[in-house]
Amino acid sequence: MKSARIAVVGDVHHGPPTATKRGEQALSLLDDVVRAIEVDKPDLVLDMGDRINDIDPQTDRRLAREVGNVFRRITAPRVHLLGNHDMCFMDREANEEALGTSVAHQVRDLGVWRMVVFQPTVEIRRPGGFAPIGAADLAWLRNVLVSSDQPSLVVSHVPVSGHSMESNYYFQGRAEFSTYPNRDEVLGILDNASAPIAWLSGHVHWNTFIRIAGIPHLTIQSLSESFTSGGQAAGAWGTLTLSAEGIDLSLRGLDPFHVKLPMPRRGPKRWPMRPD
Ligand SMILES: [Fe+2]
Repeated sequence: MKSARIAVVGDVHHGPPTATKRGEQALSLLDDVVRAIEVDKPDLVLDMGDRINDIDPQTDRRLAREVGNVFRRITAPRVHLLGNHDMCFMDREANEEALGTSVAHQVRDLGVWRMVVFQPTVEIRRPGGFAPIGAADLAWLRNVLVSSDQPSLVVSHVPVSGHSMESNYYFQGRAEFSTYPNRDEVLGILDNASAPIAWLSGHVHWNTFIRIAGIPHLTIQSLSESFTSGGQAAGAWGTLTLSAEGIDLSLRGLDPFHVKLPMPRRGPKRWPMRPD
């Protein structure tokens, strides 16, 4: 069976700079990435969302179009996630118009693996944090994951691992903005699926790997983030290889990251439970 090579980039954040986001460099960084992708010829390009730094409805549409125009130069198929900044002043239709692709839930066959593109709400409430994932979105995920024994890489902008935000520039002491309040329901769905699963997200602007009940959860650094790279834009992007052997994620830039994992274990409660 065929393995797949996926170029991954995320949290581009094109727009005015903030304290740690080098938004003013984002478009030229993305331009370099797209040039490299066109040489590398991956099977698919995955953008983890948050393409802009939101300002107002009119400015955001312009910023989103500028990012979309760079992505449109890619000849490989593209998957774009919706980030919270993409949806601050724009709706799904405006994002689709900027990108020239659908941003709905979808499943893509990648040979050995498939990609489950999960696009639940990214609404943030202040105070409170992320709105919960809706029942219809949870039902879609449950149905997709029980319907096949093919290994699934689930991709979402916001992570569901609930990993520690200690020392994260944005989320230390405010973890409710880093994940969903009902992420336990998602982990329950994963527990009851029989196929191998891995989960990849953006949003938290750092590289992480954690296993929960045998399922690897990964997050990748933002293209223009600087808080982990000494004030300079990380320029993070890379290649994810999905094969019968497992997962290989390799990110380049100033915050490099390389994780090689065997095929995740199948079945309910993938991790052995200690009998008490
Ligand atoms: Fe972001």
